[in-house]
Amino acid sequence: MGTTEAPPRGRRAAIVAGLRTPFLKSGTAFQALSAVDLGALLVNELVARAGLPPQAYDAVIFGQVVPSKLATLIGREMVLRTQLPRSVEAHTVARACATSIQALTAAADAIAAGRVTCAVAGGAESISDAPVFASRRLAQALAALQKARSAGQRLSILASLRPRDLVPEPPALKEPTTGLTMGQSAERMAQQNGISRDAQDELALGSHLKAAGAWQAGRFDAEVMHVAVPPRFEQVADRDNIVRGDTTLAALAGLHPVFDRRYGTITAGNASPLTDGAAALVVMAEQKARALGLTPLGYLRSAAYAALDPHDQLLQGPAYAAPVALERAGLRLADMDLVEMHEAFAAQVLSNLQAFASPSFAEEKLGRSEPLGEVDPARLNVNGGSIALGHPFAATGARMVTQALHELGRRRKQYALLTVCAAGGLGAALVLERE
Ligand SMILES: CC(C)(COP(=O)(O)OP(=O)(O)OC[C@H]1O[C@@H](n2cnc3c(N)ncnc32)[C@H](O)[C@@H]1OP(=O)(O)O)[C@@H](O)C(=O)NCCC(=O)NCCS
Repeated sequence: MGTTEAPPRGRRAAIVAGLRTPFLKSGTAFQALSAVDLGALLVNELVARAGLPPQAYDAVIFGQVVPSKLATLIGREMVLRTQLPRSVEAHTVARACATSIQALTAAADAIAAGRVTCAVAGGAESISDAPVFASRRLAQALAALQKARSAGQRLSILASLRPRDLVPEPPALKEPTTGLTMGQSAERMAQQNGISRDAQDELALGSHLKAAGAWQAGRFDAEVMHVAVPPRFEQVADRDNIVRGDTTLAALAGLHPVFDRRYGTITAGNASPLTDGAAALVVMAEQKARALGLTPLGYLRSAAYAALDPHDQLLQGPAYAAPVALERAGLRLADMDLVEMHEAFAAQVLSNLQAFASPSFAEEKLGRSEPLGEVDPARLNVNGGSIALGHPFAATGARMVTQALHELGRRRKQYALLTVCAAGGLGAALVLERE
C-alpha cells in the first residue's frame, strides 16, 4: 500500500482551483480532438481563471490512460501548448481510472517535500482518438522495408504479408491478467455479491437525476468551462451530453445486458459510458496560498492506494483503500459529510458499499475487527457520478475532487471521502477537508 504521511506544517496541499471541460460521449463534438488538445484547452482556461501569474507555477503533473499516437508526454505538452512559461517542469502519470488522483497526490508529495510550490495536476482522455495498432507482422515488415536496399527486397517483403496481417488491431480493453473486460469483471462482482439488476438501475437513475438537478441549479457552472470546438470554433460545448434528466426506471429496465447477454445485469444505462474530456486542479503549498491571501477550495488531508488480485473482485479497490485513508486522516466514515465514489458501474459501487458495511469482509479481507460502516445515501455522489456525467478515464479523479470541494463549500461542511477503482485491481481513496 502507498504511503502519504501527514505533510510538514504549512506544506499541506491546498487545492486552490479546479475545472473541467464538459464531458461528452465519445464520437460526438470532441471527436476530432486528441487528449492533448482537450488537456491544453482546459489547462489554459484553468490558469486564466485561477488568477495567479503563469510564473507562479513550477510544475505540471498530468496523465492520460489511452495512449496518444503522437504526443507521448502529455504532461510536458500541457506546458508547451499553453500560456505556461516553458521553464515549468512537467511529467506524465498513469494509474488507470485513478490517474488524476495520482497527479494530485504526486503534486501533494512534491509540495510536502519542498520540491514544488504550485502545480497543475490533472488528466485528459479522448476515447474518440484511441490508437489503432498495426499487426506485429505488418510492423515488422514496415521496419524491414525501411532497411531494404533494392526493389527486389522490397517486393519480397510485401509478398510475405498475408491479408490478415493488414487488419488493424483495436486497443485492448481487457485486463491482461484475467482476459476479462471491465464490464465482464463488474458482471462477476454483481453475481458474487448478489447485486440485482433493479438495484443497479436505481443507482443509475439516481446518478442521472442528481446530475441533471445539479446542472439545472447551476451547481456545475463554476466547475465546467465552455469549449468552442476547434478548428472551426462554430460549435460550443457548454454542458455534459450524457446526463439524462428524463430517464426512468422503466427505460433503464428495458435495456439489454451488454457484457453477458444471456444472464447479465449490466447495460449501457447502468455502466459509465465511453467519454471524452479533461479536468485539472491547481495545487499549492498551504503556506504559499496563505501568503497570497487565497482562500483554497480545500485541502488534501490524507490519501491511500491499495491493490488486490485481479482474479478476485477487480473493482473492489475502494473497499481496501478507504479504511487506510480514513485511518491516516484520523477520522471515521461517520465524520464524512460527503462520499464521492467513482461509478465505473452501478454494480461496482453497490459491491463496494456492501464491502464497507460487511463485518466478514472487514475480518477476512482487511484483518480488521470492525467494518467501515454504512454510507448514508443522502451523502453519496450528491451531484451525480460517472454513470451520468461520463468517465474520461484520466480526468475523472480531478472532476470528483472539484465537485466534492465545491459541494462542501456550498454546504459549509468539512470532510469528504473520495474513492476510485481502477484497472489492475487498484483502488484509491482520499480524505479532503475544508476549513
Ligand atoms: C456499456 C457500453 C458498451 C454501451 O455502449 P453503447 O452501446 O455505445 O451505448 P449507447 O449510449 O449507444 O446506449 C445504448 C442504448 O441504451 C440507451 N441508453 C443508455 N443510457 C440510457 C439511460 N440512462 N436511459 C435510457 N436509455 C439509455 C441508449 O439510448 C441506446 O439506445 P438505442 O440503441 O435505442 O439508441 C459502453 O458505454 C461501455 O463500454 N461502457 C463501459 C466503459 C468501461 O469499461 N469503463 C471502465 C470503467 S473503469
